[in-house]
Amino acid sequence: MNVAVVGLGFVGLVTATVIADKGNSVTCIDVDGEKIEKLKRGELYIYEPGLKELFQRNMARMSFTSDYSSLRESEVAFICVPTPTVNGKIDLSSVRDSVLSVSSVDKDVIIAVKSTVVPGTASALSSMIGRSIVSNPEFLREGNAIEDTLHPDRIVVGGKSDVDMEKVCDVWEFTGAPIMRVTNENAELIKYASNAFLATKISFINEIANLCEKIPGADVATVAKGIGMDHRIGKDFLRAGIGFGGSCFPKDTRALVSFAEEKGLELKIVKSTMEVNEERIKHAIEMIEEEIGNLTGKNICVLGLTFKDNTNDLRESKSVELIDALRAKGAKILAYDPVIKELDGVKMVNRIEECKGTDSVVIASEWKEFETNPIYERAKNVVDLKKVVNLKVHPNVRVIGAYHAEN
Ligand code: UDX
Repeated sequence: MNVAVVGLGFVGLVTATVIADKGNSVTCIDVDGEKIEKLKRGELYIYEPGLKELFQRNMARMSFTSDYSSLRESEVAFICVPTPTVNGKIDLSSVRDSVLSVSSVDKDVIIAVKSTVVPGTASALSSMIGRSIVSNPEFLREGNAIEDTLHPDRIVVGGKSDVDMEKVCDVWEFTGAPIMRVTNENAELIKYASNAFLATKISFINEIANLCEKIPGADVATVAKGIGMDHRIGKDFLRAGIGFGGSCFPKDTRALVSFAEEKGLELKIVKSTMEVNEERIKHAIEMIEEEIGNLTGKNICVLGLTFKDNTNDLRESKSVELIDALRAKGAKILAYDPVIKELDGVKMVNRIEECKGTDSVVIASEWKEFETNPIYERAKNVVDLKKVVNLKVHPNVRVIGAYHAEN
């Protein structure tokens, strides 16, 4: 097939690459000329395990341009542009602009919206351009994006035209995943409800983590394992820590709450999920203060800057929020990250060993390489805010979500 992907951020680039790898020709469009030039040279601006190799292997089937007229031959155009929050509400202008641009170039190409948009968006845009639009939300996680695109749990396709929906289903046939054919509105809401539910699991386990910290003998990792073995609950997204960050959960929970408010409805559970998440950094700071006292003038080494492991994405990173909060308390920060080597105003080290002399080493992201390190034995103090350290090897590390005798 000839496919176009509009918006070459994280979702667009992974989607385009995987579709190309399955033998399709892909026209990749982005308004950012700098990104286009990089991609033409075979350079990526995002870090995602396996993507560089897959991208370079499939470049011959991909073309890169800022010119919408290049998508004339395409059968389906996937819209993967961002939907940021502005003043607490979702900003749909990029989705609208790209849909209008695609439909002005070609009246036959099927438009499939992958961007996360509030229910009613596809129908409204569809009325604007006078033809049907397919909603095809994505569920891929950064750091696991290729695997999630190749083997999704399900494909959700929403729309009013069976013919258009079938064409979109054809693109994803290679996944073998179950396909749900629904209305545009259901597809749009499935995406929000999925993210809000996963975020709620995280906030829920973080509250249980707070409780475990008050109970001698309790540890949230064991409790999470025990509840997760019940298949009705499921074991995933029950890792306690400093809360969820990134480009999706914080933004999507906010958008869902404000969308419901416009409909005269208060989403109490989602609001509490956000509230619990906002309190995580304050809680982390208290833990570090319990360990090393007043933070003024203290040297602290933070391990992990991105919002999660296996990515270079700093958007709404809890680690960066933590660094700001530590600094506000007068601490001096060193930081180490496996992929981020520069961050405005933060002194970076190249090796974790360089953190040895600091007052505390604080683990703020879940990279596998943080599981064990000889430095944890030699450092003055280590605080694990992501429950990543192997406590069998390093029993002396202070860890979030477990009782601490000096509480
Ligand atoms: C998320 C959704 O998982 C994905 O389906 C959607 O399409 C986009 O948003 P992503 O934001 O890339 O994906 O990463 P994810 O793995 O979901 O992690 C989000 C945040 O939650 C990270 O900050 C992570 O550290 C945190 N998290 C995740 C936890 O604190 N505990 C967990 O158990 C899982």
